[in-house]
Order: sequence, then C-alpha cells, then structure tokens
Amino acid sequence: MTESTEHSYSLSYASRAADSAWGTYLSQVDRVAPYLGKLGRWTETLKRPKRTLIVDIPVEMDDGSVRHFEGFRVQHNLSRGPGKGGVRYHPAVCLEEVMALAAWMTVKTAAVNLPFGGAKGGIRVDPALLSRSELEKITRRYTSEIGIIIGPQQDIPAPDVNTNAQIMAWMMDTYSMNVGATATGVVTGKPVELGGSLGRVTATGRGVFVTGREAAGRIGLKLEGARVAVQGFGNVGSTAAKLFADAGAKIVAVQDSKGTLFKESGLDVAKVKAAHDSRGVHTCADGECLDKEQFWDVACDILIPAALEAQITPERAKRTRAKLVLEGANGPTLAGADDILADRGILVVPDVICNAGGVTVSYFEWVQDFSSFFWTDAEIDARLDTILTDALRKIWSEADRHAISLRTAAFVVACERILKARQERGLYP
Ligand SMILES: NC(=O)c1ccc[n+]([C@@H]2O[C@H](COP(=O)([O-])OP(=O)(O)OC[C@H]3O[C@@H](n4cnc5c(N)ncnc54)[C@H](O)[C@@H]3O)[C@@H](O)[C@H]2O)c1
Repeated sequence: MTESTEHSYSLSYASRAADSAWGTYLSQVDRVAPYLGKLGRWTETLKRPKRTLIVDIPVEMDDGSVRHFEGFRVQHNLSRGPGKGGVRYHPAVCLEEVMALAAWMTVKTAAVNLPFGGAKGGIRVDPALLSRSELEKITRRYTSEIGIIIGPQQDIPAPDVNTNAQIMAWMMDTYSMNVGATATGVVTGKPVELGGSLGRVTATGRGVFVTGREAAGRIGLKLEGARVAVQGFGNVGSTAAKLFADAGAKIVAVQDSKGTLFKESGLDVAKVKAAHDSRGVHTCADGECLDKEQFWDVACDILIPAALEAQITPERAKRTRAKLVLEGANGPTLAGADDILADRGILVVPDVICNAGGVTVSYFEWVQDFSSFFWTDAEIDARLDTILTDALRKIWSEADRHAISLRTAAFVVACERILKARQERGLYP
C-alpha cells in the first residue's frame, strides 16, 4: 500500500493516541525494540491485539426501563498460553484502555514467567449507580456475551477495579450454566468456597510490598520509619499500606476518589480503611484533609500509585519528593513523567512486576482448581514471595547489564519470552 493510499483511510483503532493508555504502552514497546536483536522482526506482534470483542449488554433496570451498556474483552497475545486478565467496571472504560490493560497483562505474565498470555475486559458503567440485582444481571449478560472466547483453557478473567469475588462467582456460574458443567477454572479471584485461593484477595498488595521491600533494600532505604504515600485505598492500596505499616513504615498520606488525608506521624491503616469503605478516606478523624493536588507534594520516601492510569504526569513527577515509586496501579506513569523520574534519580518499580502478585496467585488458583487440591496460606505467601523476588532479581540484572530502567528491563525480559514463543510456534497457516 502506498503512503497516499494509506492516508485516505481513517485512523486504525490500533494507532497511537498521545498520552492515552494505549499510547503509553506503544511508546514502552518502542523503547524495548533496540534490545531485542533478531527477535525484533516480530515486534509488530506486540503492537496489535490478537482479538478484540465489543458486546452490547441490554439490562432491564429495577424501574422497568431497558438500558444498554458497552462491554469489552481483548486478548492481546496468546503466544505463551491462555489469556489472563481482569474485568473492570468503570464509566471511563473504552476499547483503547482495555487494549492497553490487556497488553500490560501480556508483558506482566511473561515478566514473571507465568504460562499465560495477556487479556483484559471491562464494562463502561458506574457500578455505584446499580442495585445488586442490576449488577448481577449486567455481569451475567456480559459473561454470556464474551462466553464465545473465554474458558479455562482459552482466557481466564479475574477482578480489577470495582469488581470482586462475588462478581467472579456470578461469572463462573453463568459460564458453567452455559457449558453444562461446573467450570471453576474459568475465572480466578473467586470466593474460597467456590474454588478460590487463599491469599488471592491480598496478593496484589502483598506483591507491591515484596517488590518494594527488595527495591528499598537495594537502594539502602530502611522500611522502619520510611514515609509512605498511597494513592487509591481499595484492594491494592490498602493491603500494601497495611504490610508497609506492619514492617514499621509510616503511612503519611492517603488519597481516594473522594479526598486526601495526611498525618506526618503516620495514619492508622485500619481506621482509614474503615472510612474508605463507608464514605471515603477524608471522613477519617485520624488525620487532616488536604486538597487533591497537595497529595503529590507530601514529604515521603515511597510513593504508591494504586488507583488508575496516567496519575503521575510530567508536572507531578517534577514535584514528588519520593525516592522510590511502586506502581500498584496499571500504567500510572506517563512516558514523559518516567523520564523525569529517571533524571531525578527516583527509582520506579514498574507495574508489570510490582503489581504482578495478583496474577501470580491467580495462577496458583487456576492450578489448584485443575488439580482440586488446595494449598495453605503459608504455602501461597511463600511461593508468591519466591516468584516475585526471583523475577525482580532477573529484571534488575538485565537493567544493570544494559544500563536501562527497570521498566525497560522488565519489557526486555518479557518481550524476549513472548517473541521467542511466537518465533518457535511460527505463523499459521
Ligand atoms: N485487584 C487486583 O488484583 C489488581 C491486580 C493488578 C493491578 N491492579 C490495579 O491496581 C489499581 C487499583 O485496583 P484495585 O483492585 O485496588 O481497585 P479498587 O476498586 O479496589 O480501588 C481503587 C481505589 O482507587 C481510588 N480511586 C479511583 N479513582 C481515583 C482518583 N481519580 N484519584 C484517587 N483515587 C482514585 C478509589 O477510591 C479506590 O480507593 C488498578 O490500576 C488496577 O488495574 C489491581
């Protein structure tokens, strides 16, 4: 196709939109390309999702009206195994965001060397505005619609923002009803009574703590007395905060979607969590409220973004006083901000390894479901610790070898694994 012909078409859905999550991902891939050697001829594979499914979800609401919601499931790459990735319920969910989140799952599962590809799903909805029965209906219809591409051997969803074990139970039940057999392995993050794994609920936050502990040790930052600021106090943020506090750190600032709380001597994590789960962290009497933007100016040693994408902008990267950034959220740092943090000597443990604890215990859950043999809490925590510590060690030595950031090194390790698998499998037909 000549260039002029190409320009007569409208923009491809896989094109880069600057500062979007997908644009951030594509620029991360561009940074890895020089380190891939002969495997580089397959790089284009990483820039295109293998399969994207957009579904219409009609729901009869409690007031008798019928509303339609947009649902997505994207399988970014399946070279190394079945798709794996969460399902997000949020009003800002769109195809481009789901594509980026699926792609980061491809990189994450490969960086930690789990036998999965990358996938992600979501519904464009604010679940806070739904009744429980509406939430169940939307979940069941969505599961049924994406049922043509998910399955224990095809693609295994899990919780993400605003989804939880109950939603996974409804997804498992719907899929099982459709195939005529109980298929516990179709989703992970289920209730323990339904084939869920011990340790799954806290796994992502625990992984943030484990990788943070290792990184802090390497840069000579003591956890005892370290000041920690956490954005997002849901599943990931609150668990990480608790584990850091248990290790002697002070949680000096916390932000959720409704407000920001600060206490120089350290907040009481349990009290903040209780406030978060009722009316928001700002309603906790244990600290003083700050304006939203002041969160980024707080004096801290460790910053944990554990909310949504694109939170660390170049402007905020110039202001943060942290020495170590632990990416609990997916894609919280814009590419321009990454460079500023690096120039300022601030170490970033990237999302693809930092928040990989969740998918690692999801992998344990999937294995346990297949064998119908369940492990103890202690076994899960110990195996999680070993996998993440080993993965970080390998990424760190790659970073040292090429004098590159941990993020680029994680992408190098992961992309080599993905593209080698692609090359060995060959192209069909
Ligand atoms: N849950 C997992 O196992 C898992 C695994 C890997 C990565 N992640 C990532 O971690 C992040 C958080 O996920 P979660 O499961 O904890 O979600 P959650 O729904 O439990 O919590 C999200 C938190 O972010 C806060 N938040 C939302 N918008 C905000 C805003 N604009 N400013 C400040 N705070 C805001 C919410 O108030 C809430 O405290 C997401 O990026 C998700 O993709 C989650």
